[in-house]
Amino acid sequence: MAVLPILVAPHPVLKQKAKPVAAVDARVAKLMDDMVETMYAAKGIGLAAPQIGRSERVIVVDVHEKGETPNPIRLANPEIVWSSEEKGICEEGCLSVPEQYAEVTRPLSVRVRYLDEKNEPREIEADGMLATCLQHEIDHLNGVLFVDYLSLLKRNMILRKVQKQQKASA
Ligand code: NI
Repeated sequence: MAVLPILVAPHPVLKQKAKPVAAVDARVAKLMDDMVETMYAAKGIGLAAPQIGRSERVIVVDVHEKGETPNPIRLANPEIVWSSEEKGICEEGCLSVPEQYAEVTRPLSVRVRYLDEKNEPREIEADGMLATCLQHEIDHLNGVLFVDYLSLLKRNMILRKVQKQQKASA
């Protein structure tokens, strides 16, 4: 496994629509493992392949609480097949928009169909933090960042702060 560098917004790969994987073979399974390791190293709760420069429909999430056993979920070609009419507001952040947070409104519950690390088709029904995280990561596969839900003013303010930070740490 390997920890990979994470792209920071604005980066063109983050705005692309990612391509489905043909199947979860050894190559994709390795990508999933690398993404899990990269997510843990960055202390994130989710990561999408475009964030490490791979425009493929692969995400990993793990929303376990401190003190609980890690519970990574690896998903290829994830698709939201149902979402609740009821919505909730959650404060979101993103490893590609470091140290910036904002409230985003999304459906409270979703059902997601995907291929697991053994290429088995699966469905997961999620609510709360896991539902938010899955929707946020699937957005990445469509070139959407959480800041895209904010007003233009707020989005530009956040992206400017990120650029300034990046320059300061370069
Ligand atoms: Ni993100």
